[in-house]
Amino acid sequence: MRHPIFSLLLSIGLLNHVHVRGDSIREDHIPEDLNGSNFTYPWPVKLYQFTTQHAQTLEMAFMDVAPTSTPNNKTAVLLHGKNFCGPTWNATAIVLTQAGYRVILPEQIGFCKSSKPVHYQFSLQQLAYNTIGLLKALNIGNITLIGHSMGGMLSTRLSLMYPENITELVLVNPIGLEDWKALGVPWQELDITWAIEAASNYTTIRAYEQSTYYVNTWNSSYDIWVNMLNNIYHGSQAKEFTWDQALTTDAVLTQPVVYEFPLLKPKTLLMIGAKDNTAIGKAWSPPDVQAKLGHYNVLGKQVAAMINGSTLIEFPDLGHAPQIEEPDTFHAALMGWLSE
Ligand SMILES: *[C@@H]1O[C@H](CO)[C@@H](O)[C@H](O)[C@H]1NC(C)=O
Ligand SMILES: *[C@@H]1O[C@H](CO)[C@@H](O)[C@H](O)[C@H]1NC(C)=O
Ligand SMILES: *[C@@H]1O[C@H](CO)[C@@H](O)[C@H](O)[C@H]1NC(C)=O
Ligand SMILES: *[C@@H]1O[C@H](CO)[C@@H](O)[C@H](O)[C@H]1NC(C)=O
Ligand SMILES: *[C@@H]1O[C@H](CO)[C@@H](O)[C@H](O)[C@H]1NC(C)=O
Ligand SMILES: *[C@@H]1O[C@H](CO)[C@@H](O)[C@H](O)[C@H]1NC(C)=O
Ligand SMILES: *[C@@H]1O[C@H](CO)[C@@H](O)[C@H](O)[C@H]1NC(C)=O
Ligand SMILES: *[C@@H]1O[C@H](CO)[C@@H](O)[C@H](O)[C@H]1NC(C)=O
Ligand SMILES: *[C@@H]1O[C@H](CO)[C@@H](O)[C@H](O)[C@H]1NC(C)=O
Repeated sequence: MRHPIFSLLLSIGLLNHVHVRGDSIREDHIPEDLNGSNFTYPWPVKLYQFTTQHAQTLEMAFMDVAPTSTPNNKTAVLLHGKNFCGPTWNATAIVLTQAGYRVILPEQIGFCKSSKPVHYQFSLQQLAYNTIGLLKALNIGNITLIGHSMGGMLSTRLSLMYPENITELVLVNPIGLEDWKALGVPWQELDITWAIEAASNYTTIRAYEQSTYYVNTWNSSYDIWVNMLNNIYHGSQAKEFTWDQALTTDAVLTQPVVYEFPLLKPKTLLMIGAKDNTAIGKAWSPPDVQAKLGHYNVLGKQVAAMINGSTLIEFPDLGHAPQIEEPDTFHAALMGWLSE
């Protein structure tokens, strides 16, 4: 807990050069096999260490990539989805750094190379707070926030909580464009969700992604991301990871953002692969409920109409991950909008 006087000093800007007490950044001696993920990342991994929820000291892993051309003095923060990690943004980060951006790739608590606490109240608000804490520790004020899938839902919550820090918001096939529970998805007991998570392997992950994300096709270039995830499901913290995944599923199912899209303040771009059919809880819903869920060809337009002054770019033939399916098309569209 921060002392109230410390918070006051921070709020009036007197301590802006000082990290929030207890927070720190670690860059040295970061092991390759970190918190149950043994996947090799494209840039050095750093750790943001902070105290949270009943005095636990946890760490968020992140990559901080410098511009590779003349700096444009802008920082892009790229948030991964539930079945992805920072490296999934590899190609996008390269395009952004070539355009002069500094790119930060944070990984959320419970995911990838970050800590996997067994006792944690997962909420989109908590993850947004952690992410803004990382940015504060790095002394970064205004950002271009880009979120994919669950990272898009989180980016929406983060923008609602910290509108003054988001210059531009880009949502890439975000989840949360509808309220699944209001459409009939029954609540599922966490131990059941956990058991399904715990049974994951290369075959089950690929089958899910093929039917939900990639319009029932498969390209071997998608394999790397299945292997990256499968490595955590079978890594040294598999038990903690699968439990955190169950808690996260429950958080996104029970904490809708869809009612608040009209309250968003930043300039917003919605990028939608229209053949996506992702919906949390669809797998355990009755057929009549399943039929109502995940129609991104409708949801994109519906949500774009709710966000003041937003731009919608649809990819009619792509699914949940347009940046992976057709990187060149995706990046041309993204950079076009950012440079407007
Ligand atoms: C991590 O990967 C490296 C290289 O692939 C391997 O040598 C090492 O045994 C792995 N560690 C664990 C804990 O799986
Ligand atoms: C970026 O900041 C540097 C140093 O303040 C300045 O010289 C440069 O003109 C800025 N570039 C842009 C594109 O604003
Ligand atoms: C990242 O992209 C570079 C350049 O295309 C490539 O060499 C590297 O293998 C990629 N890494 C990952 C983890 O995708
Ligand atoms: C995550 O990895 C870091 C670096 O090795 C370590 O300090 C920390 O204890 C790990 N966290 C958990 C929850 O295992
Ligand atoms: C967010 O913006 C406010 C107002 O400009 C600023 O005081 C604060 O430091 C910014 N937050 C971060 C994380 O930099
Ligand atoms: C963030 O952007 C706002 C609006 O463009 C500007 O007023 C403010 O000074 C910026 N803050 C920082 C910390 O760059
Ligand atoms: C993956 O899990 C499924 C379902 O639990 C099982 O049928 C299959 O044999 C497993 N495959 C591998 C490669 O472990
Ligand atoms: C598979 O993906 C690669 C890399 O994005 C691409 O060059 C290739 O055309 C794709 N193959 C098919 C059959 O779509
Ligand atoms: C919508 O955006 C415009 C331009 O940024 C702004 O003037 C207007 O106040 C916004 N309306 C609402 C309801 O936020």
